Amino acid sequence: MNIVPETAPFSREQRAWLNGFLAASLFDRLGSAVPGTVPDAPPPVAPSRPLWIGFGSQTGSASGLAKKVAKAAESKGFLVTLRELDSISPDELSGLERLLVVCSTWGDGEPPDNAAGFWSRLSEGAAPRLGSLRYSVLGLGDRNYADFCGAARRIDERLEALGARRVAPRAECDGGDRAPFTAWMEAVWPSLDSVEPVDAPPCVVSPIPGPTVGPGSGPSPETPAAASPWTRRHPYPARLRVARRLNGEGSSKDTRHIEIELDDASFVYEAGDALGVQPSNDPALVDGILEALGLDPTVSVGLGPTVPAESTTLAEALTNRWVLTQPSPALLKRLAELAPGSLIASLLEPSRRPNLESWMAGRDVLDALRSAPEARLDAVELGPLLRPLQPRLYSISSSPKAHPGEVHLTVGTVRYEAHGRARLGVASCWLADRVIPGVTPVPVFVQVSRHFRPPGDPSRPMIMVGPGTGIAPFRAFLQERRAIGATGKHWLFFGDQRRATDYLYSSELDPLHQDGFLTRLDLAFSRDQESKVYVQDRMREQSQALWQWLEEGAHFYVCGDARRMAKDVEAALRTVIRTAGGRTEEKASEYLERLQSEGRYQKDVY
Ligand SMILES: Cc1cc2nc3c(=O)[nH]c(=O)nc-3n(C[C@H](O)[C@H](O)[C@H](O)COP(=O)(O)OP(=O)(O)OC[C@H]3O[C@@H](n4cnc5c(N)ncnc54)[C@H](O)[C@@H]3O)c2cc1C
Ligand SMILES: Cc1cc2nc3c(=O)[nH]c(=O)nc-3n(C[C@H](O)[C@H](O)[C@H](O)COP(=O)(O)O)c2cc1C
Repeated sequence: MNIVPETAPFSREQRAWLNGFLAASLFDRLGSAVPGTVPDAPPPVAPSRPLWIGFGSQTGSASGLAKKVAKAAESKGFLVTLRELDSISPDELSGLERLLVVCSTWGDGEPPDNAAGFWSRLSEGAAPRLGSLRYSVLGLGDRNYADFCGAARRIDERLEALGARRVAPRAECDGGDRAPFTAWMEAVWPSLDSVEPVDAPPCVVSPIPGPTVGPGSGPSPETPAAASPWTRRHPYPARLRVARRLNGEGSSKDTRHIEIELDDASFVYEAGDALGVQPSNDPALVDGILEALGLDPTVSVGLGPTVPAESTTLAEALTNRWVLTQPSPALLKRLAELAPGSLIASLLEPSRRPNLESWMAGRDVLDALRSAPEARLDAVELGPLLRPLQPRLYSISSSPKAHPGEVHLTVGTVRYEAHGRARLGVASCWLADRVIPGVTPVPVFVQVSRHFRPPGDPSRPMIMVGPGTGIAPFRAFLQERRAIGATGKHWLFFGDQRRATDYLYSSELDPLHQDGFLTRLDLAFSRDQESKVYVQDRMREQSQALWQWLEEGAHFYVCGDARRMAKDVEAALRTVIRTAGGRTEEKASEYLERLQSEGRYQKDVY
């Protein structure tokens, strides 16, 4: 749910935090409208009432839930048709009576690949009226993204605009929290059959989940590697071998080539997958918080409602279990209660929301504690007020065929200054600065990316656009294709700030290009000349050749920044199809959609 406007001066995470905070307040006010409070009517008896369930899912979470919905629906006597959203046409929809949509959100608020075509057709002006359709939508997403459950929300709003009747408010699952799903299911069954007019609100928001049982708590929203016992909940304690800086002296960036050893043969991954890394917090921040609260680091604290109850020392929990870089709404609320005269208390007054928003930008738990110095929190009270520290994902930059027993990453470290203090990205700076090679365990798991793979046919050409750390999976793809003796052509677009310092992996890419395996290599260094040049500019310069490759059946890949780069690259691709391919805007969109539905346009953007 987006309450804070996109234009407000916040980073993605800050905006996500604020949206969560405001949504939680709204939830407080909605009170009895919470899903799950709808009384569970006995299942209607009429057999074979047709119900369509459409899902949009990239890595399987939404499709998994859709299957559960289908099973439950069958047990309630519905005649179920379970389909990927892309396989449902608006004309089919206009003939339906009941539809449930289960859809995740990807990229920067986009539908998953197997729902992109559905959304594009549904949003057209020519989409038919859906007067006879009763429907409800379940969204899956992650509040760390600015456009939380954006794809589900837009589908919900569009169905309503086309005249369909929403029979139960949209529910939204954040990460592994499945409570909204359960409540939604309860609300949906009686309303799908009710003959009463329905006037369901568009969405009932759930509060942002509070701390539960520490790192990786709750089921993973994504599928773990099928054959691997190592999961988000049970990560593999790997050892880091290398964290080499890839940028040269004088660069404004610090990108690291990370090599991690895998001594366990059951730890499997494929080129295209991402690695989940469970980091530790900066000890300086931990010390600052202990000092601000005047607490004994060795005191024992509980880690949530586990049975038997898990506990650890306060210092360990602050280091490994809780988020310290963003204060939770619960913490701010409690500080305001304990220190009513404090800055925090005044910022939490409803009329001062805009001030709270700007105060929040770039501030962490230590800032929050310092802004209410009179508030005394003991160790037991602190834990439930902090959120569990989540793993970070990194696109794997090696192929297991080229580097058995290892996994490589390409990590851009996050370092900046805010409010007079140096701020460090939790995971990137932990990997770069504090993990001792060969000594510190690095908890990792594989995040399978079935949607992001080299072509099944090794003779197919590949076009890869990966500026900055976006190069990571393409290094893996090139290694993979070389290892299997692929005969297809390869074209890489890479870009960064300066060639002299930021041409990542140049010592590998140049030889690959020289020996012809990397058929084409186009580089864009934005700061090497007066006017900025980016990968999308290089694409436009090469329109004819790009078009030819696409027509030869090339697969097109993009990896890296979702907010701007991936959108600009897609716009450039559309231009290529229009100009070199001689297509109208509409036909170019259809061409792109076809690429997507054939799995020939794949994105790994973040
Ligand atoms: C599928 C996937 C693949 C990914 N692959 C890669 C990859 O290959 N390489 C890679 O480097 N990353 C990758 N990422 C991103 C990665 O997961 C982390 O988000 C990233 O490393 C930052 O995490 P962190 O813990 O270091 O920083 P955090 O502690 O999470 O801090 C990052 C936050 O700091 C804030 N921030 C950053 N800069 C500023 C600033 N100048 N001013 C104010 N606030 C600021 C922003 O809110 C930002 O979101 C990927 C993400 C996904 C989802
Ligand atoms: C690269 C990437 C981008 C994402 N973008 C968003 C987003 O913009 N909004 C959101 O709510 N969730 C976003 N998510 C979270 C997914 O929607 C969430 O993990 C969901 O459970 C995935 O479900 P699926 O496996 O069915 O696709 C993103 C996840 C990844 C890895």
